[in-house]
Amino acid sequence: MSDVIEQYFVKNEPYYRPVADEVKLYEAAYSVRMPMMLKGPTGCGKTRFVEYMAWKLGKPLITVACNEDMTASDLVGRFLLDAQGTRWQDGPLTTAARYGAICYLDEVVEARQDTTVVIHPLTDNRRVLPLEKKGELVGAHPDFQLVISYNPGYQSLMKDLKQSTKQRFGALDFNYPQHDIETEIVSHETGIDSAIADKLVSIAERARNLKGHGLDEGISTRMLIYAGNLIAKGVDVHAACRMALVRPITDDPDMRDALDAAVTTFF
Ligand SMILES: Nc1ncnc2c1ncn2[C@@H]1O[C@H](COP(=O)(O)OP(=O)(O)O)[C@@H](O)[C@H]1O
Ligand SMILES: [Mg+2]
Repeated sequence: MSDVIEQYFVKNEPYYRPVADEVKLYEAAYSVRMPMMLKGPTGCGKTRFVEYMAWKLGKPLITVACNEDMTASDLVGRFLLDAQGTRWQDGPLTTAARYGAICYLDEVVEARQDTTVVIHPLTDNRRVLPLEKKGELVGAHPDFQLVISYNPGYQSLMKDLKQSTKQRFGALDFNYPQHDIETEIVSHETGIDSAIADKLVSIAERARNLKGHGLDEGISTRMLIYAGNLIAKGVDVHAACRMALVRPITDDPDMRDALDAAVTTFF
């Protein structure tokens, strides 16, 4: 096994609490190498799920956090200058395609559309990646799979995936886990007891109901874990909730009051 790819194997089993039949469905999708789109709000478990699946399938995982400054070269690769002259360096997508990794493009809508189209030839039955600058056509390794994450809440008309991109993927919907499962996750990840985790989840549920009524996005599982970590360190629960749950998501004084009131309702 090439040492280029060795570093991308997930060595230890990531903690992942299944919420429905997503593990089975993903395994089926992988078995036919279907490109996958994981849809859902930020901080609800998409990245953790991919890490878990890569571990379970025993495949390397190459993750790319997408942003609007990213170019096709950042994905595919570029020529670098060194003492000997120029040398080609594969980008993360090329490395994944060559060596048979799962390539996870996180928050793919952040990337510009001219960047996104480079994935097209990899997601139809050609399964190839043209390196135009280098004049090479990379055939994808049989184990290669492309996975993207997509937050349907953020899209504007200007920033959305083209239908021609969307229709290349199978999709799994993710959301915040149901109450008892989320309590279990927060308690497991932070070590706080489930009675406190249960209250944190109830606060988050209040906030999630305010989405679209003054909040752009509810309190995520990730935020609950931050709060739980602070509480586990001995931080006062009210201070922990203010800092980890309320202040990050809104600057509006009335909304802050409403959320602070939810905190005092449960604690
Ligand atoms: N089903 C789950 N099982 C285990 N941990 C989870 C689960 N869902 C969320 N988490 C926790 O929430 C955190 C945030 O999830 P993450 O996968 O980073 O979110 P996303 O990629 O959707 O933004 C994770 O680090 C993990 O601690
Ligand atoms: Mg993520």
